[in-house]
Amino acid sequence: MSEIKHITVMLHEAVDYLNVEKDNWYVDCTFGRGGHTQKIMESGGKVIAFDFDQESVNKGKAKFAGEIEKENLILVRENFDQLLSTLKHLQGTHNISEISGILFDFGTSTDQLMSDSRGFSFSNKHSDLDMRMDDRLGVKASDLLKVLPAKELTRIFRDLGGEKNAKSIARAITRMRDENPQQLESVGSLVKAVSISGRFQKGRLHPATKVFQALRIVVNDEIGNIEKALPQALEIIKPAGRIVTIAFHEGEDRLVKQTFNTWELENKGSKVTKKAIKPSEEETTTNPRSRSARLRVFERAI
Ligand SMILES: C[S@@+](CC[C@H](N)C(=O)[O-])C[C@H]1O[C@@H](n2cnc3c(N)ncnc32)[C@H](O)[C@@H]1O
Repeated sequence: MSEIKHITVMLHEAVDYLNVEKDNWYVDCTFGRGGHTQKIMESGGKVIAFDFDQESVNKGKAKFAGEIEKENLILVRENFDQLLSTLKHLQGTHNISEISGILFDFGTSTDQLMSDSRGFSFSNKHSDLDMRMDDRLGVKASDLLKVLPAKELTRIFRDLGGEKNAKSIARAITRMRDENPQQLESVGSLVKAVSISGRFQKGRLHPATKVFQALRIVVNDEIGNIEKALPQALEIIKPAGRIVTIAFHEGEDRLVKQTFNTWELENKGSKVTKKAIKPSEEETTTNPRSRSARLRVFERAI
C-alpha cells in the first residue's frame, strides 16, 4: 500500500503567528510529521518537539537527524500534559534560556488515521479496535466498549461526537457484548454496531465517523490533556511570547477559547486573534481534512 502522508494544516499562519526569531526556542507540542517544526527551524528558530506516539518520534528522529545533531531540534516522546516538568528537565541538560512560543496542533495525524493496524479508521475491518496514539496507555477503544454502561457510551457519542443516534448505537454495542464481548475487539464490530442501530442519511461522512472520533478522544484523554497543558504553557512561556493552537474538534476549540478569555480577564495577556482563524479556501480545496481547523493565538503579558 502506498504511504499516505500527513499534510500540515495552516502551516504558514501558525508559524507566522509565532513571530519566530533567530536562535530563540519554540515548543511544538504535537510534532506529528514535523511540518510545523521544520518551518520554525527554516525561519531560524530552535525547537523542542513533543509527540507521545513512538512511530512519529522514530520517523522524526530519522528525518531530522542532522538538525538534532546540530541541537536545533530536541525531539522527545512525551505527553504534552508533562510540558512543564519536561521543559524544566531539558533546561537543566541543554542550553535553553527561555521559551519564545508554543504551538499545539491537536488531534491525530493522517498517518495515524490511515494506519491499517491501529484502529482509527474503518478501512480495515479486521484491525484491532485500539485507537491509542500512545501505546503505553492502558485502555484501548475495545476495552471501553466492553465495560462502559450504555448511558456513558451514549454520552460519549453524543457529547464528543455530536452523534444524533448515540443511544441506539450504545444499545447495539451492549447487545453485542451481552452475546459475546470478544466480538467488540475489531474495527468491523463497531462499524456493524453503528450500521445495525439505525438509518443513516447518505452524506460526505462515513456513518461511523463521529463514533470513532468520540472514542478516540476518550481513549487518548485528548480534552484532559489540553486542560492540563494550557496553564503549563502560560507558565513556561516568556513575557510577550505566544501560544498558538489549532483545534479540529468543537469541544477542544471551545476549551481553548474559554481559557484564553479567562486569561485575558485575569490580565495574564491578550488574545491576538479575537475570533478563531479558519484555513483559506485554497487550503480546504487542496486538503479537505483542514476544513474544521480553527486557529487561536494568545500573547502573554509583558
Ligand atoms: C495533528 S498531528 C500534528 C501534525 C504536525 N503539526 C505536522 O505538521 O506534521 C498531532 C500529533 O500530536 C500528537 N499528540 C496528540 N496528543 C498529544 C499529547 N497529549 N502529547 C504528545 N503528543 C500528542 C499525535 O501523536 C500526533 O502525532
